[in-house]
Formats: sequence, structure tokens, C-alpha cells
Amino acid sequence: MSVTVRVPAKVNVQLAVGGVRPDGYHDLANVFLAVGLYDEVTVERAGSLTVTCDGPDAGQVPLDRTNLAARAAELLAARHGIAPDVHIHIAKDIPVAGGMAGGSADGAGALLACDALWGLGSSRAELLAICAELGSDVPFSLVGGAALGTGRGEHLTELEVGGTFHWVFAMADGGLSTPVVFGEFDRLTEGVAVPEPAASPALLDALRTGDTVALAGALVNDLQPAALSLRPALGATLDAGTAAGALAALVSGSGPTTAFLVKDAEAARGVAEALVASGTCRAARVAAGPAAGARVVSGG
Ligand code: C5P
Repeated sequence: MSVTVRVPAKVNVQLAVGGVRPDGYHDLANVFLAVGLYDEVTVERAGSLTVTCDGPDAGQVPLDRTNLAARAAELLAARHGIAPDVHIHIAKDIPVAGGMAGGSADGAGALLACDALWGLGSSRAELLAICAELGSDVPFSLVGGAALGTGRGEHLTELEVGGTFHWVFAMADGGLSTPVVFGEFDRLTEGVAVPEPAASPALLDALRTGDTVALAGALVNDLQPAALSLRPALGATLDAGTAAGALAALVSGSGPTTAFLVKDAEAARGVAEALVASGTCRAARVAAGPAAGARVVSGG
């Protein structure tokens, strides 16, 4: 028997970053929107814990115990005093190290899949606690939809969304390390008083009313200057998407994927084609949000 869970990618429509905390993390006001690009995580009983992966970026995915999917199986098994003996297969469609929570998606997916495979029936609260232990963005991958993350991003308040938002994502060559991007943020803000991060009322309103133009005017990513400082070529990608008619352009999370908000599905196809033709990105994908969080699609 096997269990397959489908998990969405995310884009941060607001990423407000505070000063560095004594534990090395940053307080955030992190407004997540799940979008319809998915990884599928399949688990089945095996003699030991193993991970395989296929998909366009599969070669960049670690297959050892540092993979968040493997760590999720280990943490859940340890809580229940059982051996984490599963084979985990990841069908990967979310860019790797791209700022779209691909690794977090696999962690949330493996957790839900193992819970079903082992018949544990964990509560939502128990699963969310393990997600928070796995990483700051993992709880959101479980929940999906749209949510405000506070603390280091792991305390979630689900948000109402009044419509569908259409996006284009431009994939860059290579990844960017999240800790390195936060480190660059610290370097760029040294000696500057960083305000307390707070969710933007205009942005929350735009989500609630499903107003794409208002959302375009409210998108903000405090990590963008750091990502651009480390990867200046992303500036040309942002410019190419804007020139092609995107309503707004920003770096997704810690990057290097860039995100373009457009008015509808047809505009998305046009902007994606223009981005590829511009030669400023490796590939472009269209996706709409909000998308549902991690859910069992077969088995269980
Ligand atoms: O929580 P997670 O393991 O995904 O975070 C990866 C790294 O990103 C952390 O080690 C830290 O350097 C940085 N980070 C941060 N502040 C946050 C979330 C992540 O500085 N709120």
C-alpha cells in the first residue's frame, strides 16, 4: 500500500522582515499565498528510510536525512516510538531552492502521507507542531490557501481570499540559500533601525476583496534588496516581466524565482512567453492562487 499527498508551492505577497533575534531568526509578517504548482510525495513501507526524486530539478534535491521529507518521517515516527522505515518518492515540480517553499512542501507532504500510512490519526495541531519544528514555512505548506505568518513565520492566521490571482513565475539558474539571503539583509540594514514587521491593511484588504490591481500595488518583499544584491541579474528579469505587461513584479521569498502578478490567465501566458523570449530566465510557469494545502490524493 502507498499514500500520495499533493502539496502546493507558495509566493509571499508580503514579506516584512524585522531585526535579527537572539536565536538568529528574524521576526516576520509573512503573508503567504499558495499557488497551483505542486510536488507529489508518495510513501510506502520499506526496510529502511530512503528517498528518491524525479522532475526537472531532481538532481539538486538532497536524498539523505537532510531532506525535509525524511526528517518529517523521522520526527513523526519518533513521537510514536516506531521505526521510520518508509520509501519516500518526491515527484518534484516546484523549483528547488527557489523561494517557493519546495522543500517545505515535501516536509509537509511526507508528514501527512506517513500519518495516513501508519494510521496514526494525528490531530491538525500535532501535525502543525511537527511542521514548525521542521522549518518556518512548513506549517503553511500543510494549511495552504492564504495565511499571515508571524513569529519566524510559523504562527499562522488563515486569511480570507475573495478571488483568484494569476501569476507567472520565472525560474533562475541555480538556487539561493535562505540563511545567506537573511544574512545579506542583516548586512544591508546594519546600523539602520528596522521597524517591527506588520501586515499591510491595504494588502489584506486586496486579498479579501480579490482585487488584483490593489494587490499589485501592495506587494512587498523586504528580502528583495538582499536577493538582488546577491544576484543582480534578477533585476533584468523583473524589468522584462514588467515590460511585458505584468501588473507587478517581485522576488518570491528569498529568491531567486521571480513572481509576476497579471490580470488573468491569458495575460499570464503572454508574460510567460515574453519572459522566456527575453533570455533573462531559465523557464517560466503560470499558476493561480489560492491553492489548497497538503492533501491525500491516493491511498490512505
Ligand atoms: O526555519 P528554516 O529552517 O526554514 O529557516 C532557514 C534559515 O532561514 C534559518 O536558519 C535562518 O537563517 C533564516 N530565517 C530567518 N528568519 C526567519 C526564517 C528563516 O532568519 N523568520
